[in-house]
Amino acid sequence: MAREFFCAGSGGPEPYTSKDMLAAHKGMNISEQEYLEVMDDIVGAMTKHGLDDGTKNDVVAILYSLKGNIIRV
Ligand code: HEM
Repeated sequence: MAREFFCAGSGGPEPYTSKDMLAAHKGMNISEQEYLEVMDDIVGAMTKHGLDDGTKNDVVAILYSLKGNIIRV
């Protein structure tokens, strides 16, 4: 589902077909530190696959904008 979310968010054409970020993470009590560690993993995956810095920065900005729907919701 994370793959589908990323693909749809970066232009598709396949749609994302599952829960929104608030519904997916509600009740998990995710901390700021845990959130940052997932961001690090995502950046690491992008680096491993040779994405350029501009693309990585765009993705990080989008992920950061979702934090209010994921941290301690
Ligand atoms: C911006 C960061 C994140 C994005 C874009 C993201 C995205 C997603 C997506 C698309 C799903 C699938 C939802 C579904 O199955 O309907 C999901 C599920 C999940 N996420 Fe995240 N996530 C993020 C951060 C985190 C963090 C920080 C944690 C925990 C440290 C986390 C833990 C989980 C878990 C455990 C599930 C599985 C829920 C289940 O199977 O019921 N996520 N996430």
